[in-house]
Amino acid sequence: MKIMVIQGPNLNMLGIRETQVYGPMKLEQIHAQMKDFAGQNNAEIDFFQSNLEGEIVDKIQECYGEVDGIIINAAAYTHTSIAIRDAIAAVNLPTIEVHISNIHRREEFRKENMIAPVCSSSVVGFGPFGYHLAMIGIMQVIAEIKGMQEQQAQATTQA
Ligand code: DQA
Repeated sequence: MKIMVIQGPNLNMLGIRETQVYGPMKLEQIHAQMKDFAGQNNAEIDFFQSNLEGEIVDKIQECYGEVDGIIINAAAYTHTSIAIRDAIAAVNLPTIEVHISNIHRREEFRKENMIAPVCSSSVVGFGPFGYHLAMIGIMQVIAEIKGMQEQQAQATTQA
């Protein structure tokens, strides 16, 4: 099982930026924990962070045919980017979006979400632990899809 983690703008500043909102943990620490958890579950995991919308679109497109699922925190682009939304819809992979803070309890403009409607589900407001929850979630979704595909394949060979 292969998982791609995509991190949007300013998440490279975690541990420095608005620690009262996002906490003290650095992105590298979050990724190290995710890598450990992936290893314990025989999953391959890769990480990508960019401050540029087009680079995030490129990375999502690269996932097509290469990975089984995506975990994405599109950060501020969540609220604005039709291009990232369309890329997620285009590759049609199981995708879980994460937000460290509870975007529903913050400014009005953070309530607009372009990404959520094309994702399998959202994890919001759990702090960095949300990435761990997203990993459990994505592995479950991928396992269910693989199970269904195997059942279908069996049914076709039996027919
Ligand atoms: C964020 C929430 C966004 O509104 C914000 O622009 C971010 C981080 C979060 O993880 O809580 O950069 O996605």
